[in-house]
Amino acid sequence: MRDVLLGLCLAGAFGVVPAVAAPRPPLLLGTAWYPEQWPEARWPKDLALMQAAHIDVVRVGEFAWSTLEPRQGVYHFGWLERAIAEAARHHIYVVIGTPTAAPPAWLTSRYPQTLRVHADGRRAQHGNRQQFSFSSPLYRKFCREIAARLARHFGHNPDVIGWQIDNEIGPPSFGAQTRRQFHAWLRRKYHTIAALNRHWATRYWSQTYDHFRQVPMRAENENPGLLLDFRRFVTATWASYVQNQVQAIRRYASPRQFITTNTTHWGDQFNEYVVNHVLTLASWDDYVPNGRYRWLDNAVEDDLVRGYKRRDFWVMETQPAFVDWGRINAALPPYAMRELAWQDVGHGANAVLYWQWRSALNGQEQYNGTLVGPGGEPVPAYRVVKKIAAQFALAGPALADTAPRSRVALLQSYSSRWAIGFQRQTILFHVVREFTAFYKPLERFAQAVDVISPHAPLGRYRLVVAPALNVLSRAEARHLAAYVRAGGHLILGPRSGMKNSYDALWTERQPGPLVPLLGGHVGQYYSLLKSVPLAGKLGSGHAAVWAETLVASAPNTHVLLRYGKGNGWLEGKPAIMTRHVGKGTITYIGAWLDPALMQTVLEKLARAAGVHPLISGVARNVEVCQRIGAGKRVWVLINHGRRPHTVHLPSPASPVLTGGRARRTVALAPHEVSVLWAPRA
Ligand code: GAL
Repeated sequence: MRDVLLGLCLAGAFGVVPAVAAPRPPLLLGTAWYPEQWPEARWPKDLALMQAAHIDVVRVGEFAWSTLEPRQGVYHFGWLERAIAEAARHHIYVVIGTPTAAPPAWLTSRYPQTLRVHADGRRAQHGNRQQFSFSSPLYRKFCREIAARLARHFGHNPDVIGWQIDNEIGPPSFGAQTRRQFHAWLRRKYHTIAALNRHWATRYWSQTYDHFRQVPMRAENENPGLLLDFRRFVTATWASYVQNQVQAIRRYASPRQFITTNTTHWGDQFNEYVVNHVLTLASWDDYVPNGRYRWLDNAVEDDLVRGYKRRDFWVMETQPAFVDWGRINAALPPYAMRELAWQDVGHGANAVLYWQWRSALNGQEQYNGTLVGPGGEPVPAYRVVKKIAAQFALAGPALADTAPRSRVALLQSYSSRWAIGFQRQTILFHVVREFTAFYKPLERFAQAVDVISPHAPLGRYRLVVAPALNVLSRAEARHLAAYVRAGGHLILGPRSGMKNSYDALWTERQPGPLVPLLGGHVGQYYSLLKSVPLAGKLGSGHAAVWAETLVASAPNTHVLLRYGKGNGWLEGKPAIMTRHVGKGTITYIGAWLDPALMQTVLEKLARAAGVHPLISGVARNVEVCQRIGAGKRVWVLINHGRRPHTVHLPSPASPVLTGGRARRTVALAPHEVSVLWAPRA
């Protein structure tokens, strides 16, 4: 909700032109609006409905290339300008999406070489979206041109607060052009084909190459060294694809306007840390297609996205009740819509946008949830969003310039995710599930967890956990060892330190270059059909899916848990070991532990590392989020359960949504959200 426009508004022949926009609200609620799909006469009605729902921001322009440039070199921006001005009249800010995920028919028919080539060699057809090739210099030229022209036109418009490049980038193209670029990328990396042969161990199956141009380009069923490099090449290609538009926009746009690209649910087609490096804001599309909202599964993704740039982010899209692309597109209950939006904020989002305002009357997404129906009348989700938006407006000032802060970090490595994905060894080892199995108990206990790249600075963390750091380069190992030597506490999970950065096996076994620091190594790994008991100092329970036997080789490396009876290979062997290194520790967990044991083990190790809950004694279904700013602390407390719960704060805080006096005891009704503000020394 934008309440005031500073300065004068001039009434003239073109209507009311805002002179200087007010500073935008710190917490925004928005929607994706496609004005090009509707008669202009309808816009004021839609925008009035948005304004009545306290909507502060709309994302426009995305996919509108055929309307923005109906013929090559002929630009029609007038409608967009009028749409933005009309939105401004309703105190609604705008994010412009560059339309490059949906090239117009004149482009793809005149320049079919810009179309994407699928892995099987077929060229994509026009008629859907994302049919372009990410590596095509010609396509990039068109993208640069449209992005630059938009930026020249709107780059200083006070109502345009940011840019979104493309939409959910991801699928690579496998044509001859990409292949040439892949070979050039390999040449830059390895310099000689002999070096590539050595690192990929190509004598295996006679894969030895005489020239870079002989190297195949495949995304699966290949030498793991090749597969890993292909993903890195895809990352570099997407990064330069995005950078191409960033440069075009930056040339003309005010630095006040952010630039982002909206990313997908646990997307792994490219390394997000690299692509986000060229952007000023990370954003993601938070969807729960089956309508079953599980708060910890969503929390980890918020933390993941916050880690892309290690700062606040946006939820660029979320569902007004339901989507249309799942197997069963069940609606989120109204309370879950509210919990999800507040959880996003609690974890660092400063905007939540609903996709979409109103569905096109035709097109592939007629069934997706909206805020108004095809006739333009509000649907039930509108009323839910209106309430959430009203709460956002109330809490915005308190949340301004605050962010979550954590003493615990989970390391998320794309190379490791990819490497395990190429060779799972057991279909039960799902990397994201394993990662989440570590995240959940830590989030429950510490109530604040950062998810970051293994290259991120670690100095501020008491505890750093790498659930399955399968690919561990020497540089990463040095970084982690320095953290431990400086007094940090490091936990490595199963499958860690098995491969070097070429995806080749470390000869010293796991955890590779960290074997000397650990004073021990993995003797052997096993995929499990049946669970295996475990017991020791840290508790007892079971291992499933994966188990490694550990071997201690230093006198001060201690075994904390051993496998019990039942599996001939594992019986009596160490499953967890630890070693003190000065004031720091390194611990290796060799098995996928059952949830209860994982909770016990991680809690004990976290406490030993000096990590404590932000608020103790909180019920299982209550989520505690904290955002810290200069001189203030804001709590976002969410009762995800069906029973009332009480939370005892460490110091008094004032309820922001309901008003009232500062208090230490907060009573939360089922599914209630409470936001509380307290001064902080
Ligand atoms: C998103 C996509 C949107 C829309 C939405 C439907 O993944 O970015 O453009 O298709 O799904 O739920």
